[in-house]
Amino acid sequence: DTTVILLAIESSCDETAVAILRGNLNKAEVLSSEISSQIDIHREYGGVVPELASRNHSLALRPLIDAALNKAGVTFEQVDGFAATAGPGLASSLLIGHTAAKAMAVAASKPFISVNHMEGHLLSPFIAGDKGILPNISLVVSGGHTMILHTKQFGEYELLGKSVDDAAGEAYDKVAKMLGLPYPGGPEIERVARDGSPVAYSFPRSMLKRANLDFSFSGLKTAVLYTISELNPETGLATAEQLPDICASFQAAVIEVLVKKTIRAAQSVQADRITMSGGVSCNGALRDAMADACKRHNMELEVCSKHLSTDNAAMIAFVGLQKFLRNEYSDMCCDIDPNLPL
Ligand code: KG4
Ligand code: ZN
Repeated sequence: DTTVILLAIESSCDETAVAILRGNLNKAEVLSSEISSQIDIHREYGGVVPELASRNHSLALRPLIDAALNKAGVTFEQVDGFAATAGPGLASSLLIGHTAAKAMAVAASKPFISVNHMEGHLLSPFIAGDKGILPNISLVVSGGHTMILHTKQFGEYELLGKSVDDAAGEAYDKVAKMLGLPYPGGPEIERVARDGSPVAYSFPRSMLKRANLDFSFSGLKTAVLYTISELNPETGLATAEQLPDICASFQAAVIEVLVKKTIRAAQSVQADRITMSGGVSCNGALRDAMADACKRHNMELEVCSKHLSTDNAAMIAFVGLQKFLRNEYSDMCCDIDPNLPL
């Protein structure tokens, strides 16, 4: 079995990341996974500013590549191939990492591999395993996507359901903004929710009664907004005392639909394994609820460690490795695609 070393770059949004991965078809080892976060730069604008993001990617990248190689104890010459995120994401941000990886591949005369960011999230629960990629029902919940897929094997994914409006992470971020909590909202809401009651307010469980596996989170967001203004007609702002209950109740509504629809999807195809990935899958309450539900239904749950759930380059290297080992190299002229579908 061939074991190779890959260097991967992720720059689709506001994290610049470089990872070195060594592996074969069954087993991968993350030798280093460096991340330079721009969150502090974008926080004062309440969201990601594309122009600032791309400039900071280009500033951060070179030292990050050196750091990743150093930490891994790997020289540039030892790298067998270079991978980078091609989309989905911000065009100007994607271009920085994608072009840098191509340039390195040219300089080293080694293959270049273009990777879909969502495939990176989707397969991240298998990075640390030693059985390759196993068939499963996959819940992918990030800032831009909420999807349930039937993953049959590497490269064969059937979309069973998705959000018809906001992604789950987007709902977290928007509700956090309404509540005056800083960006990104997911971790903030999780933290504040710990002191609140999940049954204090009964927010809508959108589309739960529908037979399909689609989601909708914009009605929930509006319901939270109405509750805030009803409670505080003068200011329209939630008070510090109201925050924990609102956060806990909002989070309970999101988690209930995510868990129930994922279990339903697994039952519909008789799958006995569920995976969960993407930034929202960091959420401890979601992890606990999904683990409980899987236990009750005799299903196995695979999630990656929290630092591989949010944006990182190890997941890009992992997909790159699968493609490399199947000789699926990318053309040097291939372009980024901000709306790249899975
Ligand atoms: O996967 P990710 O890092 O980037 C995208 O590809 O979008 O996901 C970021 C999203 C943000 O919306 C963020 O608020 C959310 O994941 N998130 C969380 C938590 N940590 C990050 N949502 C809920 N609970 C968390 N602990
Ligand atoms: Zn992501």
